[in-house]
Amino acid sequence: MVNLLIGCTGSVATIKLPLLITNLQEKFKDHIQIKVVVTEKAQHFYKNSDIPESVPILTDEDEWSMWKDRGDPVLHIDLGKWADLFVIAPLDANTLAKIANGICDNLLTCTVRAWEIGKPLILCPAMNTKMYNHPITEKQLDLLKSWGYHIIPVIEKMLICGDKGAGAMTEVDTIVNYVQSIINKNP
Ligand SMILES: Cc1cc2nc3c(=O)[nH]c(=O)nc-3n(C[C@H](O)[C@H](O)[C@H](O)COP(=O)(O)O)c2cc1C
Repeated sequence: MVNLLIGCTGSVATIKLPLLITNLQEKFKDHIQIKVVVTEKAQHFYKNSDIPESVPILTDEDEWSMWKDRGDPVLHIDLGKWADLFVIAPLDANTLAKIANGICDNLLTCTVRAWEIGKPLILCPAMNTKMYNHPITEKQLDLLKSWGYHIIPVIEKMLICGDKGAGAMTEVDTIVNYVQSIINKNP
């Protein structure tokens, strides 16, 4: 059984979350358990009714409602212990910048900050072409690669904002196949 944590940020590519879950469940059948952690902005891009009931969606509110006193669970730590791999799809420019700078001000970024180096962390950037082409993007992605994080490159296509060029999140099937290749390497 593989415990897979998906992270979603405030990119329009979060609309693909239901498809990503469906395709992962179809590929791995009963051999995968999925949990999702979302930023506040990510919640604008999917409907809870489109997510299977078996898949918990965890928010900043969950982190703080679970912890009331000493001894209570600390969700961002427990998620890191539970998950075998962590896929952030999509990773927007804001959360990319936070991770690169060690900032941890929400459930998703705290989970990344506490993620054990060496355990697979797969990042799927997604942003507008102009954001993507800004020189800071490459610097930050290179830094994350140097820590051993996996980056699945953006693709070029017509973006939802109407601009055409690099910056779109990779295809869902590319992510699913990448997850499979990581699982095959770390049985
Ligand atoms: C409709 C809409 C679509 C957006 N899509 C993206 C995107 O694809 N990539 C990105 O980097 N930011 C995008 N943003 C901006 C982010 O939502 C914004 O930077 C936000 O602060 C990200 O917060 P988070 O990283 O905590 O999720 C979009 C904003 C809006 C209003």
